[in-house]
Amino acid sequence: MLSRIFQDIGLMSAIGVILALIMVLAQRWLSNYGEVTININKKRDLVVTGGNSLLSSLADKQIFIPSACGGRGTCGACKCKVLEGGGPILPTEKPQLSKEEMADNIRLSCQVKVKSDIAIQIPEEIFNIRRFHSVIEEIIDYTYDIKGVTFKLEEGQSIDFKAGQYVQLETKPYGKVKQKAIRAYSISSKPEFNNRIQLIIRLVPEGICTTWVHTALKVGDKVDFTGPYGDFYLRDNDADILFVAGGSGSAPIKSMLEHLREVGTSRKMTYFFGARTTKDLYLGDEMRDFEEYFDDFTYVPVLSHPTEEDNLQGKTGFLMPYFKEAIRDPKNTEAYLCGSPGMIAAVTKSLINDYGIAEGKIYYDSFG
Ligand SMILES: Cc1cc2nc3c(=O)[nH]c(=O)nc-3n(C[C@H](O)[C@H](O)[C@H](O)COP(=O)(O)OP(=O)(O)OC[C@H]3O[C@@H](n4cnc5c(N)ncnc54)[C@H](O)[C@@H]3O)c2cc1C
Ligand code: FES
Repeated sequence: MLSRIFQDIGLMSAIGVILALIMVLAQRWLSNYGEVTININKKRDLVVTGGNSLLSSLADKQIFIPSACGGRGTCGACKCKVLEGGGPILPTEKPQLSKEEMADNIRLSCQVKVKSDIAIQIPEEIFNIRRFHSVIEEIIDYTYDIKGVTFKLEEGQSIDFKAGQYVQLETKPYGKVKQKAIRAYSISSKPEFNNRIQLIIRLVPEGICTTWVHTALKVGDKVDFTGPYGDFYLRDNDADILFVAGGSGSAPIKSMLEHLREVGTSRKMTYFFGARTTKDLYLGDEMRDFEEYFDDFTYVPVLSHPTEEDNLQGKTGFLMPYFKEAIRDPKNTEAYLCGSPGMIAAVTKSLINDYGIAEGKIYYDSFG
């Protein structure tokens, strides 16, 4: 009787092992898509190994679609038009796509898997985005949670970008984080320095990339990034400018101001910087230098949560009421906003509804 039970257990185990083996083999066979072709803009064909995302298949061939969230399906930056072979729209894509975009075959390239031949359409500017190799040259503590990091490009490389654009940094495994991550950071240095860039990076508690930058990254380390990305850049005209930023959102504004100092401008410019307390203020000396240099530039720091120790002679509360002093003609004013999605939404609403600035003249990069 006992030996019969053991025989049955043995038989069941053997069947279990055989089934598991069949499943592993089937999975390998099913996910082996072989070589497939990506046709781009009806002009060129790339042969890639099937089974990976469209985003990473293109990146392997040095074509970098913006992917600010690192492929997590949350930023919508990686949208592109799939003309053929993309398969049905996935549930993970729908939150980022409007009905019109879905009808127009717009897809999230980080979610679409390349399983068979596929045809896509992407803007020509994408081909200017490149991978850069750099060495960390300097790390500055701007505040207790904000660092300025300078990346010197490898000999022979130079980067052409517009003031306000961003790059995507690739982290290396560190501590318990075993995988690399990709995150977007605005360039804070001027385009005229094309053999090095500075980024301003604020620590996000538990954040993969910012913890790496703040705790593991050292001068002399080698780091790769791709870029430049984005359409948040200074428009060349003579309209008055309202800059509005919070936290590390000052990065692209610093780049724009440094660029304007290089090329010269007589535009009226006002920069509203929102911070919680005086501990969160930084770049004050640089802003005072800009005030002295430009014909008409004013820096206005505003504290949202001033402590008792903070000097309360300055401006406090919400940023929006103070815009009144800066806007002399809404029709001839453009605004550049950078920071958290909440701040951008509130400021945009106020600029349109309270101050009459046209939506088309409000440019922003949301760090969400
Ligand atoms: C176009 C663009 C430009 C950007 N430029 C800059 C820049 O110049 N400087 C800069 O510091 N950041 C910038 N960011 C934000 C940056 O890309 C990262 O999202 C941020 O640094 C957090 O990355 P992480 O890997 O440390 O955190 P993650 O590991 O991605 O996130 C950890 C947790 O924190 C939450 N979280 C993510 N981001 C934030 C945030 N900003 N505040 C609070 N909680 C958050 C997440 O929801 C998650 O729960 C930019 C983002 C975009 C889209
Ligand atoms: S990379 Fe962010 S949604 Fe695709």
